[in-house]
Amino acid sequence: MKIVSSIDELRDQLRGQLRTVFVPTMGNLHEGHLSLIRLARKHGDPIVASIFVNRLQFGPNEDFDKYPRTFAADIEKLEKEGVYVLFAPTERDLYPEPQEFRVQPPPDLGNILEGEFRPGFFTGVSTVVLKLFSCVQPRVAVFGKKDYQQLMIIRNMSRQFALPTDIIAAETWRAEDGLALSSRNTYLTEAERAEAPTLYAELQSVADAVRNGDLNVSLIEKQSMERLAARGWKPDYVSIRKRIDLQPPTAGDLAQNSPLIVLTAAKLGATRLIDNLEI
Ligand code: PAF
Repeated sequence: MKIVSSIDELRDQLRGQLRTVFVPTMGNLHEGHLSLIRLARKHGDPIVASIFVNRLQFGPNEDFDKYPRTFAADIEKLEKEGVYVLFAPTERDLYPEPQEFRVQPPPDLGNILEGEFRPGFFTGVSTVVLKLFSCVQPRVAVFGKKDYQQLMIIRNMSRQFALPTDIIAAETWRAEDGLALSSRNTYLTEAERAEAPTLYAELQSVADAVRNGDLNVSLIEKQSMERLAARGWKPDYVSIRKRIDLQPPTAGDLAQNSPLIVLTAAKLGATRLIDNLEI
């Protein structure tokens, strides 16, 4: 595997490649990331991965400084998966001058759910992803459904800018007890790790209620947040939305069985976890 940090070196390595498939990451790789790479292999060749902890998508009081950085272990994992090039730019490589041009997602998608609680997050994500796409020029890129809203924003960005990159969605990778894998799980204490699968259990019980015909969406959401709070969580939201645009379903949408999804974000101790489940 070639490890490159500059955009010029990356372009040299990839010159003439027409079927590049790309998996962008912020490192601290776990089985979830590796599952994205295994899916990538089915959609193109060569595989390019990136590791870049993108300051633009972190708020001033968020965990940019303490975000886990495990570069040596990450390299070993990517090598085993047959990645051709790892693009690991420094901040100076990717942002040699202040990144003043930014990609702003539409407010009805970018400012809801995660965007409401993490202002500017999706502008930071969209900006870095567009820039990484411009560096790698992939034919296909793979994103996990764990970050469902991110996936949708990137997919819409790619379509609206007519980027030559197809976006492929990978299923969420879960631990045996149901907890969605995330780099932030490493922040959990032992007791919190034992409690953490409750978040997925809550999503399942919300999904079951809807599947069983309970259409009082706001009551289901409220009761779910109350159950989490009673166990010591600080939920930001448990929200049932339409899969197509992440807007709240109307009575008509519910009557017509529009495909739904339940999304959640909640803090356990100092760690904020997100998850979702298609209903
Ligand atoms: O999902 C992530 O790890 C990041 O948001 C991404 C897509 C690599 C952009 O920094």
